[in-house]
Amino acid sequence: MGKVVAFTNPKGGVGKSTLAVHLAVKLKERGESVVLVDADVQSSSSTWLLDVEPEVSPVRLHTPDEMLEQIPALREEFSYVVIDGPAGLSEVTRAALFVADIAFLPCGPSALDLRAANDAIRVVRQAQTIRKGPPIAVLIPNKLQTRYRLSRELLETGRSLGIPVASGLRLLQAYADAAGQGTVVWRMGQEGTTAAREIEDLLEELLRYEPAEIIEPSVANG
Ligand SMILES: Nc1ncnc2c1ncn2[C@@H]1O[C@H](COP(=O)(O)OP(=O)(O)OP(=O)(O)O)[C@@H](O)[C@H]1O
Ligand SMILES: [Mg+2]
Repeated sequence: MGKVVAFTNPKGGVGKSTLAVHLAVKLKERGESVVLVDADVQSSSSTWLLDVEPEVSPVRLHTPDEMLEQIPALREEFSYVVIDGPAGLSEVTRAALFVADIAFLPCGPSALDLRAANDAIRVVRQAQTIRKGPPIAVLIPNKLQTRYRLSRELLETGRSLGIPVASGLRLLQAYADAAGQGTVVWRMGQEGTTAAREIEDLLEELLRYEPAEIIEPSVANG
C-alpha cells in the first residue's frame, strides 16, 4: 500500500505546488510509481507537471467527496500519492488531512509566519484526534532569506508549536523560474545548481518521515 503525503496550508503562496511538483518528479526519477493529486481548482501544478514529466499523470480532485473516495484507490495503485492542497481553509483541505499519512506544511520564512501557521496546525490536530494518530505533520519554512541554517528563533517557535521543523528552502529565483519554464530546478543547469542541491537535500529529509501508526481504539483504551 502506498504512502499519501499532502502539502497543505490554507495560506496561499507558501510553496505547496512548488514542493509537490518537485517531490513527484524526484520520486518518478527514482523509479517509484507516483501520482500527483492536484486539489487546487486553478490546476497549476498539474499543468506544470505535464510539462516536466508527462509520464506522471496528475489527477485533479476538487471536492472533498472525490478526495475521500478516490485516494484510497490511488494508494492501492501507486507507491506514492502526493497531494497539492489548495489555498484556503476549505473542506478540501480538511479532506486531504483525513486521507494523508504525512502532512507537510510549507510556511513563510519568519517566526511570525510560523506562528501564523497555527490555523493549519489546528486543523491537523483535529484530524489526528479523530483518526487517533495520523497524519504526522512537519513544518517546512520556505523563502528563507537568512543564511543556510534555520535561525534559532524559527526552531524554537517550531518546538513551541509541538511540530518538527524541516530544514527549509531559501528564497531563490530558480524556484520561481522553474515553474515559468515548466521544469524542475535540477534540470536547469548552472542556473539551478544552488536550488537543486538545497531541494534535493530537503526532499531526502522529507522522505525519511514514516507514517504514524494508527492506534486501534482497543489498544488506546488499554
Ligand atoms: N523558495 C522559493 N524561492 C523563490 N520563489 C519561490 C520559492 N518557493 C515558491 N516560490 C514562488 O512563490 C510563488 C508561490 O509558490 P507556490 O505556487 O508553490 O505556492 P502555493 O502554496 O502552491 O500557492 P497557492 O496557495 O496559491 O496554491 C510561486 O511563484 C513560486 O514560484
Ligand atoms: Mg498551489
